[in-house]
Order: sequence, then C-alpha cells, then structure tokens
Amino acid sequence: RNIAIIKVPFGLGGARGGAELGPDELITAGLKREIASLGLVLSKEVRVDCPSEPAAPIERNRVKHLNEVRQVSQKVCSEVSGAVEEGAFPLVLGGDHSVAIGTFAGLTAHYSNLGVIWFDAHADLNTEERSLSGNMHGMSVAASLGHTAFNLSHIAGAGAFIDPSNLVYIGLRDLDEYEKEQIKGLGIRAFTMHDIDRMGIKQVIEQAIATAGKGTDGIHVSFDMDCLDPREAPGVGTPVPGGLNYREAHYALEILASTNQVTSMELVEVNPLFDHNRHTARLGVELIASLLGKRIL
Ligand code: ARG
Ligand code: MN
Ligand code: MN
Ligand code: MN
Repeated sequence: RNIAIIKVPFGLGGARGGAELGPDELITAGLKREIASLGLVLSKEVRVDCPSEPAAPIERNRVKHLNEVRQVSQKVCSEVSGAVEEGAFPLVLGGDHSVAIGTFAGLTAHYSNLGVIWFDAHADLNTEERSLSGNMHGMSVAASLGHTAFNLSHIAGAGAFIDPSNLVYIGLRDLDEYEKEQIKGLGIRAFTMHDIDRMGIKQVIEQAIATAGKGTDGIHVSFDMDCLDPREAPGVGTPVPGGLNYREAHYALEILASTNQVTSMELVEVNPLFDHNRHTARLGVELIASLLGKRIL
C-alpha cells in the first residue's frame, strides 16, 4: 500500500500557536524511516501552503480565522482527494484539528458512506454560533455533519456529509454543554474515559470498529494527540488530564490495523512549543506506525 504524506502546517484554528510546527516535527522524529522499515512505499509527500498570520489584523467575528481555515480546507481537500484517486493511503499531518474539515471534504468526494473513529479528549462538535472559544479546531466534527455555516458543502469536490451513525468517539473527557446535548440528541457512539475505565480498551476498540466499520466503505482515523494523557503527550495545545495511556493508544491502533478497513489517517495537534525532547512527536510517529501495521513480534 502506497502512503501519501500530506503536511498541513496550520495553527490558526487552535487555541494557541505552535501546531503549525507539527508536520516538520513528525518528519524530524523519523516518520519516513518508520514507513520505509514497514516495507511501505511513500508515493508522495506534499506540503500544503498555509497562512501563518491572519490576513485581516482585526477580527470582527467571534469565529477566529474563518477565512484562513476556509483557504486551507480547500487545499487539503484537493490533496486528500488526489491521493485517494492515485490509490494511495492519505496520511494527513496537522496542524490543529481544523485541518480535518478539508480531510473530510476530500474523503467524502470518494467515499459515500465513510466510517470515522475520532480519538480526542474533545468532541469538536461546536458551531460558529455555539462555540465558547471561537476556535475552529473545536468545530471540525460539526462541519463534517453539516451543522456549521462553513462546512463540507462549501469546499470544491466535497461529497456527502458524514452520517452520525458511522461516527465513533474514543477518549472524551472535556465537553461543552452544547456538545453533550448534540452527542445525546444525535445518538453518536461515544466512548468516554469513563467507558475505557469500565470496559477496558479492548472492548472499546472492538465495539468502535463494529460501529464505524459496519456497512461503511472505509474507516478514517482522526487522531488528536490530546486524547493521550498529558504525561504521555505534553506537547499539545489543549491538554486535559486523565487521558489514554501509552499501551491503550497503541493497542487500539494495532487492532484497527489488523482489520484492514482503515483507508486514511490524520494525526493532529502536535505542538512542539509545549513539548520536551520531541517526546510527543516521537510518540506520534510510533502511533502512526502501529496504525500502519507495525507489530511487536
Ligand atoms: N471545546 C473547546 C472549544 O470549542 C476545546 C476544543 C479543543 N479542540 C481540539 N481539537 N483540541 O474550544
Ligand atoms: Mn480535536
Ligand atoms: Mn482535542
Ligand atoms: Mn517525557
């Protein structure tokens, strides 16, 4: 299977700067070496050109950097769509989690019934109206469902929205009130940290695959590094205590790899400014390797 790396050095959708440094940090931490040693071919490596400073110095809207997110989404969409057309496995490197809007748009142009497993401390289900922060990285799932004013339908090449019954969360522990209502109202399958404590990661990932993989034409894994405990992954913009531990994260991705149903991945929110010794990026590389099929023995 050929891998297409799509680097998206964009941080303006996040709560604080630094996520734009994520893609280079992951490459420096040895991502391409890992891919090669798995016997996989890197068919291409592209870098999406991203704005680093807001075009308009004064933001009149409560939604921050909407125009920049819109621009980047369009470009990510066409790169992801192109990779799928070429038969490659799109591996998107964020960047903050708003890059998922473009990834979804590119994927749904090809997959009409995509399954999604969203690893995150957060649900990213806010809309422009309901967000308390105005940060677009907290709205990417809502955009994929068509709930935000700016959503997949506004991006060239975008197909259908994501069906909430094909979406599964793993690792949730920091939800806004509106997001809780949405998860319940839409009946989205959500495995919070409480559920992982109660059921163990083995049951959780098996049930997640049963939901996201049933009757779908692929599974997209969206992996926000803040799903991990901050002791494992300190280099993120919005850390929340009480997250996945090292083996839980690896185990989930190893099981996902063994299904052969995963058709794309994005890994986002690596923020080198809050990291030490490239710890979080190195963990990110290891986790990508597990999802791509790396085995201990
Ligand atoms: N719910 C909060 C917000 O809307 C936090 C979102 C954090 N998202 C993320 N991708 N790290 O701002
Ligand atoms: Mn997120
Ligand atoms: Mn998050
Ligand atoms: Mn450390």
